[in-house]
Amino acid sequence: MKTSEIRQKFLDYFAGHGHEVVASSSLVPHGDPTLMFTNAGMVQFKHVFLGNEQRPYVTAVSSQKCVRAGGKHNDLENVGHTARHHTFFEMLGNFSFGDYFKHEAIRYAWEFLTNDLKLDANRLFVTVFEEDDEAYDIWTKEIGIPTDKIARIGAKDNFWSMGDTGPCGPCSEIFFDHGEDVWGGPPGTPEEDGDRFIEIWNLVFMQYDRDEDGNLTPLPKPSVDTGMGLERIAAVMQGVHNNYDIDLFKNLIAAACRETGIQFGDSAEQDVSLRVLADHLRSVAFLMADGVLPSNEGRGFVLRRILRRACRHGRLLGKQEAFIYKLVDTLVKEMGNHFAELREGQANIEQVIRIEEERFIKTLDKGLKLVEQAVNEAGEGGVIPGSTLFTLYDTYGFPTDLTADILKGSNVGLDMDGFESCMEEQRQRARAAWGGSGEASLPKALFELREKHGPTEFLGYTTLAAEGVITGLIKDGEATAGLNEGDEAWLVTNQTPFYGESGGQVGDTGLITTGDGEFVVSDTKKLLSDLFVHVGKVRRGSIKAQGIAQLSVGGERRDAIRRNHTATHLMHAVLRDVLGEHVKQAGSLVNPERLRFDFSHFQPIAREELKDIEAKVNAAIWANDPVETNLMTQDEAIASGAMALFGEKYGDEVRVVSAGFSTELCGGTHVKRTGDIGPFRIVSETGIAAGVRRIEAVTGPSAYQSFVTDIDTLNETAGALKVRPFEANDAVTALQAKLKEAEKELNSLRAKQATGLLDDLVKTAVEVNGVKLLAAEVSGVKDMRDFMDKAKGKLKSGVLVFGMKNGPKVQLVAGVTADLVGQFHAGNIVREVATICGGKGGGKPDMAMAGGTEPDKLKQALESVASLIQG
Ligand code: ALA
Repeated sequence: MKTSEIRQKFLDYFAGHGHEVVASSSLVPHGDPTLMFTNAGMVQFKHVFLGNEQRPYVTAVSSQKCVRAGGKHNDLENVGHTARHHTFFEMLGNFSFGDYFKHEAIRYAWEFLTNDLKLDANRLFVTVFEEDDEAYDIWTKEIGIPTDKIARIGAKDNFWSMGDTGPCGPCSEIFFDHGEDVWGGPPGTPEEDGDRFIEIWNLVFMQYDRDEDGNLTPLPKPSVDTGMGLERIAAVMQGVHNNYDIDLFKNLIAAACRETGIQFGDSAEQDVSLRVLADHLRSVAFLMADGVLPSNEGRGFVLRRILRRACRHGRLLGKQEAFIYKLVDTLVKEMGNHFAELREGQANIEQVIRIEEERFIKTLDKGLKLVEQAVNEAGEGGVIPGSTLFTLYDTYGFPTDLTADILKGSNVGLDMDGFESCMEEQRQRARAAWGGSGEASLPKALFELREKHGPTEFLGYTTLAAEGVITGLIKDGEATAGLNEGDEAWLVTNQTPFYGESGGQVGDTGLITTGDGEFVVSDTKKLLSDLFVHVGKVRRGSIKAQGIAQLSVGGERRDAIRRNHTATHLMHAVLRDVLGEHVKQAGSLVNPERLRFDFSHFQPIAREELKDIEAKVNAAIWANDPVETNLMTQDEAIASGAMALFGEKYGDEVRVVSAGFSTELCGGTHVKRTGDIGPFRIVSETGIAAGVRRIEAVTGPSAYQSFVTDIDTLNETAGALKVRPFEANDAVTALQAKLKEAEKELNSLRAKQATGLLDDLVKTAVEVNGVKLLAAEVSGVKDMRDFMDKAKGKLKSGVLVFGMKNGPKVQLVAGVTADLVGQFHAGNIVREVATICGGKGGGKPDMAMAGGTEPDKLKQALESVASLIQG
């Protein structure tokens, strides 16, 4: 019977007995910070057992994905060397939440094994918890198990608990006897560790909740949790002794043989490596399918350790290059039908495995050499010093358990204490570096958080939505256990898809949700070099400083940022091409609206050059080149010609982003292909300091919008001009010429008209004592002196006074023609007149100006002139 058929038979059997068929939950336990990975079928039902959660059913059946690597149940180091240890396996289980208890649990198990799977009852052996008489009686009296096939066992093996805390209870285990040919004895005998009697099914009678101090509180209702390893029962059903000989593993091992050119069965050592590959492939791929990515902390670090262990076994099989990612396809064929997430995630999983393999392979040989050297130096029975373990870890990416794996079977130990103190020294150095980088003003709580939980793993290069564990909340500079609706705070998680402001790229915004509430992220900062801090406000409910949160970045905004960031790189490269190599970045801002780039250059950029730059950036976009990111050492990056910013701090490992002809060191987020940028448009070019120019540009929808706005304006203009848009410029030029002509004509007409007016005005002169007097109010006169001169010319002989109102003021001018200058004095006349209008003035005998502040008196003032002449 194929493994997949056994799984189906199990689900069908319990479904037939009224159990709800429940899909496997994620390997990342939702909302359970006490567990690293889902390690049993009951994990997703923990709160149902505890009575905190209700489901619409009281009995269930599942085939649960489990990982046992890291945490309480850790099988990593045994994998490959034994017949039955796996980092990843499937657990078949049936569950009762306060419904049936021991009787039915035992009956169902017995019936399924002996009736449905048709196992020989004589080959089954059972154990019960030593104090559990009830279970003992059910087995012996109701089922009829002979007393020589049942044993009472102590708490070590027959009291099951999920973790250090949580639901637990006594259990009863069912063993399969692989026959006399295999060495070993039944449980409870000195030979029990042999391989003859293999546990296949564990029936746990869930009765208690264990707290942190080990106290047991009875559960609300006694319940049942069972677990049968699918791979083990498949081995029994397929008549093989080793789990790795079942159909599923055979196919995975065959794929590994195909890739490595090794023949299974040729060498025991190589077989170990092939099995390790088959096992590790499953945990790595399934963890990635559930959103875990390799990192240096937490779950991601366990994943990385498993993958690196697999890489090293690949090297033992002689593989020099990445190949594990090529096995994913076979795994998807084997298991992708039942686990859709594997099939859906395939491309991504392959890519991440490949990148991780390629990265590790670069340091693998050097690290292996160092181990060899250290082993020689330590000698038989010696110890590898902590400092060497640290170098292996820090420089060559060898987790200590990988080093331990390499030394398995040798008589050389590891100085783990020495390693720990090197790690501590490194932490101290990091702390000292923070102190010196002006971040001392940050809250103490933030430093404590960083110390306790380490750096944040940034997931946002590959995903916009992910889960994270909340590691801390800071409100008003203090750590807090919870936030309420309306609270503004900082929220920190172990990993995040939110980009923290750095390298000129603004921080992401978005939403963080937990089962209890929603936190709106208005900004994300990267503090203490590697701690991502979500800045925001609780919009709904409450948020606790622990547990799992769903983090989701505002995608449209991030897409706009990506476009602007990649466009900045392209423009930087084009600027150097068009303007010269002296162009160096002096500052940069990338936000969703636009990009701003400051650079060294000594004169304004000519219009033609700007057009050329814009065209070349657009051409690079149309080329639609892939944007590739590679991680490498700083030296490799410089050797590859990447543009590095002088004065920027980079870690040992750097990201090199290549897009078309641009290669730059950059930690920012980018589009996948240059074509994703869409249109690119320069909107301004200015100087911001001596020798520093600034270009602002827009891309994508913003660029499109700016074109549309301009085109609309052009169309409106053309419409108003009653021409087609392409004729608008000529039409405007023609219009301007016409206007100039019209203005000229108007001016000459005005001049003529003014002369005409003057003629009329002169006619109004009166005679006083034989002297011609012209005293009048005028308006619209630009130059009163000039006007007076012209009036004198027309009058030939006489005394003239003109007044002109100008808002709250009055302008006055008096003139005396040359023949009368001895008789009358313009300065005196204007002074008298001005006095009436509330002003002052005076001047020469032939022409004088004055001003007044009472325009209403102008008429009276002008009338007074006649009396002045009369004397
Ligand atoms: N939860 C039990 C186990 O993992 C069934 O063995």
